[in-house]
This record gives sequence, C-alpha cells and structure tokens, in this order.
Amino acid sequence: MSAQDTSMFDDLLQEKRAFDPPEEFTRNAVVRNDECYKRAQEDYEGYWEDEAKELKWFSPWKKVLDWSPPHARWFVDGKINISFNCLDRHLNTPRRNKAAIIWEGEDGEVKTITYLQLFREVCKFSNCLKKLGVRKGDIVAIYMPMLVESAIAMLACARIGAIHNVVFGGFSPDSLAERINDSKAKVVITADGGWRRGRVLGLKHNTDRAVEHCPSVEHVINVKRIPGESYLLNMEDGRDHWYHQLMYGTSDSCPAEELDSEDISFILYTSGTTGKPKGIVHSTGGYAVGAYSTNKYVFDLKEEDIFWCTADVGWITGHSYVVYGPLLCGATILMYEGAPDFPEKDRFWNMIAHHKVSVFYTAPTAIRAFMKWGDEYPAGHDLSSLRLLGSVGEPINPEAWIWYYTNIGKGRCPVVDTWWQTETGSIMISALPGVTTLKPGFAGPAMPGIDATVLDEKGNEVVQGSGLLAIRKPWPSMIRTIWGDDERYVQTYFSKWDNRTYFPGDGAKRDAAGNFMILGRVDDVLNVAGHRIGTMEIESALVDHPAVAEAAVVGKAHEIKGQAIVAFVSLKGSSKADIALLSELKEHVVEKIGALARPEDILITPDLPKTRSGKIMRRLLRDIAEGRALSDVTTLADPDVVADLRAEYEENYGA
Ligand code: WTA
Repeated sequence: MSAQDTSMFDDLLQEKRAFDPPEEFTRNAVVRNDECYKRAQEDYEGYWEDEAKELKWFSPWKKVLDWSPPHARWFVDGKINISFNCLDRHLNTPRRNKAAIIWEGEDGEVKTITYLQLFREVCKFSNCLKKLGVRKGDIVAIYMPMLVESAIAMLACARIGAIHNVVFGGFSPDSLAERINDSKAKVVITADGGWRRGRVLGLKHNTDRAVEHCPSVEHVINVKRIPGESYLLNMEDGRDHWYHQLMYGTSDSCPAEELDSEDISFILYTSGTTGKPKGIVHSTGGYAVGAYSTNKYVFDLKEEDIFWCTADVGWITGHSYVVYGPLLCGATILMYEGAPDFPEKDRFWNMIAHHKVSVFYTAPTAIRAFMKWGDEYPAGHDLSSLRLLGSVGEPINPEAWIWYYTNIGKGRCPVVDTWWQTETGSIMISALPGVTTLKPGFAGPAMPGIDATVLDEKGNEVVQGSGLLAIRKPWPSMIRTIWGDDERYVQTYFSKWDNRTYFPGDGAKRDAAGNFMILGRVDDVLNVAGHRIGTMEIESALVDHPAVAEAAVVGKAHEIKGQAIVAFVSLKGSSKADIALLSELKEHVVEKIGALARPEDILITPDLPKTRSGKIMRRLLRDIAEGRALSDVTTLADPDVVADLRAEYEENYGA
C-alpha cells in the first residue's frame, strides 16, 4: 500500500471521538466485562470448548483442535447437526411457539413462521429432497430471492447432510452455471421470481438458461412467489418441480442426520485474484459454534429481540447472521425481500418502526445512500425500538458512522463495526457492545478466541503504522479448503508468511488499545457496494466481447459504493470506439457476471501502460481513475501512454 493510499487513514488515526457503552446497556448485556477475553487468552481451546458445549451434540468430540498446518479440524469426531440446533433444540422450550422468521415481501405481504412451524416445513422439505434422490454429501444449488423458503431450503439441506451452494440472485445465468458446474450440483432450488423495485427478477428463466450448460443437474425445484407468472414459465417434465406440489402430503417427520463435525455444511463462492471464483468450504461443527457464539456476543441477543440483518442469503452475512447464527440463538429474525428505496426511500425505517426491530445490521454502502437521501426519511419514523446497530462489508468512514449513530441510533445505540470474510465464516474483529469503547473508523479488538495481528511483508509484527492483517491461530468457523483445489487454499491463505498464519488479504493498523482499523484489500479484489469482485473476472468478461483486445480493471473511490469499477480497454483492429460500444461493453459485463459488476467508467484507449516486460501497470491506472499524481513511471515501456490516457480520462469522466 502506498503512502498516498494510507494518508487518509492517518487522519483517521487522529480521530478523537470515543463512545463508551451506555451504562444501562452494559448492565443488561450478554457480555458485561472483559472476562471472556482473559479466559480465551489463558485457555484458548477451553474457551472454544465451552462455547461448543452450549450447542447440542449427538456425541461429544474426542479432541477440541487437531491442527496440522495449514489445515485444522475442530471438535474432532464430535457428531452434530446444525439444522437440529437451529430448530429441534428449541422445541422443548418456550421458544417453540415464538416467531423464528418474520418475513416482509417488497409488495407488503407479511408472513410469520414460528420455530415449530419452521421445523415442520424444514422436515417436509428434507423429505422432498430425499424423494428426489438427494443424499448426504450431494450438492444442492440455491438461487433464490429473500423468501422464507430460502431459509427452509438451506436448513433442509443441512438436516440431511446435503451441501448447499447458495448463489446470489443478482448473478447472471453464466455465473450461476459456472458455480453449478464447479460444484457439480445435482439439484437447483429457485423461484419463478422475486420483487425488486416493483419489477420481477426472473430467476427461473435465468436458471433455465444456466442449466442448459449444466450436465450434473437432475432436478430443478421452483418456488411460486409471483401470482400469475407461472403460465410464462417453462416447466420441463421430469426435471422441473413446483415446490408446493412436492410439499403437498409429504411427511413432516425427518430425523436430523448425525453428521461429523468436519463434514462439509456448505460451499459459498467468492471472488479472488484470478478469473475463476473459488468455492469456500465450511465445516459443520466449527461453523455452527462460530456463527452461534459471535451472534450471541456481538449482537447481544436476548429472547425478546427482533434482529434484522439486511444481507441477502446469497452472501456469507446472509448465511451466518440471517439464517444460522440467529436461529442457533433462538432469536426472531426479520427478513425482507426487496429494495431499500421501494416504494419510498423510508422503507427500512418504516419496517423498523412497524416490526419493532431492536438490533439492526447493515452495510456502509447502504448507510451512505441513506445519508444522501436525507435525514427526513428516518426522522419521520419511530425508531425507539432500536438498541444496537451493526455494520459490515467494508470500512465505515467516521462520517457515516456518526450519521448512523446519531440519526438512526439517536445517540442511544452502540454501533458495532464487524470485520470478517466469507472465509472466516463468522465475525473476527468487532466491539462487544456492552464492553468496548467505540471509536469511529476502528472495527474494534479481535473477538475472544481470535488471534489477530498486523504483520509486515516479512512477518514482523507492526506495532505502529500500517501493515497486513494476519490471524495466527485457527478458529472453529474457518474455511477448510477451496472446493476441488486444496493447493489454491494453501497458496492463497497460508503461504504469505508461513503455513500457520492466515492471510486475509486486507491491510490494517492498530491503536494502542489494540483496536484494528481495516484499510481495505491489498490484492486485486474490489469491494463494490460491499460486494467482492475480482478485477480479473471483469477483465475476462470484457475480453470475451468480440471487439475487445485487452482490458485492465481498477477500482476508484466512490461516495456511496465505497469503490466503483473503472475499465481501460483497447480494441481489436477494425472495431470502432463510439458511445454505443461503451454501453454495449457495460451490458456485456452485466450479461456475463451480473449487475453488481457493471463498470462505472470505461475508457477506450489505443494502448495500456505497460512495463518493458509487458505487464500492465494497474497502479498507474488507479492513479488516473482517482485523479492522483502519477506514481513512478520510470519502468514504463512508453511513458507518453499515461499522459495521453490521463488527459483522455479527465476529458471523459472529469476525474
Ligand atoms: C471487507 C463479508 C472493513 C474486507 C462479511 C474483507 C470489511 C471483505 C469489513 C470480505 C469491515 C468486511 N471493515 N472491511 N467491517 N467487513 N470487509 O467475503 O476487505 O464478502 O476482506 O465477507 O470485505 O468480504 P466478504
């Protein structure tokens, strides 16, 4: 990371504002003092063992941790089922008839499902999957909007030991096919559509297009969501099934499979530095313990809370803090199908007031959009039910933090900024709301039982200044491998320093109290509106267009999205650069990957800046896109190229 890149963070380190937890909050908090940190420090395996004991195991583990770097196994030989822990475990308690999920459709429809009802639906759907031949270890792709059935599908897979592979509904048919094929999914669960800003997202249509290229798929299960849409659908005999028809008359008795702690619970694809997304593999026992423990501590969950995490189930946050974590804790979750600005920009505040949400967890990109829309939207609603706020997905700038704290939390609610990743499975760095003094811009200390630090390139600890975030000990919910590519797992995460130290790919700084400030990715991964996208993926999509010879993609700072995508493209000989081509290229990327990868700016240029050995100098392209002074150009083959490029970019996009 260059000095320029970190200068804005130096200003942040000067940030003096600090907020102690309100006394009343601490008095009632799940964690009231720093005992848990001490306990974890003194006996880290014992700490995790105690957390694990709060869940129900069919048979106990023989060993807490078996670590043969870079692989770790947790709760060795223990037998557990996460779906059982989310559902059955609560049925002999007063939670039995408590709301598990309150769901609101974008069209205003509301459904509430209790723990007992959810249990029955999950058992029934587990039996439907079995009827279709799904067995333990089979892969089931889930490509759905935010529906109660999405949670049912995940929990049913987990119940029978099938491995789910949830693909975000915003991904294109090509991206879906890639994820189905890499995992060899046997079944796809989808829906006719979902509402998004008043329009129907046609997921079944996309699925049809994808599965044409997916020989492993035997069955497609389709949830009916949109009234009247079904006549438009192609339902292929033998392959396609309506969810409600499969469910009709199916038995609601389905004992949970006794799984090994290390059996795979799910795969979730995420972007890396190469073109191909990687299937992050998670365990059963360790994942359950991580999701449960962090949910309880960070979100301070109490029996009467209504917890709303706004993430989509297509991302890890939706796995750990919409479905698994809250249900493991026996909480009530609010789930919302649609957009935050439909039909009006106060939709979220309307829902918080209506459902009396008490704990609210969202992303900085959303908070910055709310700020821009105006204070009057939240001001018009009674937000007094809120008692705790959370943030995730990217660094939250102090301005957004203070706005969130003041306008949403009314100065009463702690704001926890949580750092973690698809690979970590659960929150790794965060304040504990009843204990930690909050400092805007800092995510807080490492969670108890997490050994996080900052290292330099050589592996020396950095006490002052910026370096690379590193995790020195394994933790229960950590990634186990990359699906089908263990070598890539070792290479990506455990070869930066030694094979014991996990490299997350983020830069970080630490203050004297041990709070971490996360500086963002240090690799070729962008974070656009909280979504991880590899620059190589977008480049591959661009060069897939017949007119494109070469493409280089970089990120530039963006007021709302955090980062926006900028592409520099050179064309093949006879292709003509005009406005129509620019929008065609943007659409091509959307078509190949999904709307989340749409480039903000595309600059067509005869040459890209390259070193004498032919390597594209992305650093210079970032300087251009962000309107900064150019860094060192002496290694360029042709220094004139950057000057021309900069003039051209400024003329087009006014950087
Ligand atoms: C970034 C999302 C700063 C980070 C849970 C990480 C954050 C990537 C924060 C993982 C935060 C996530 N502060 N940066 N609180 N949370 N990130 O896999 O760069 O979608 O590596 O997991 O998001 O994104 P992923």
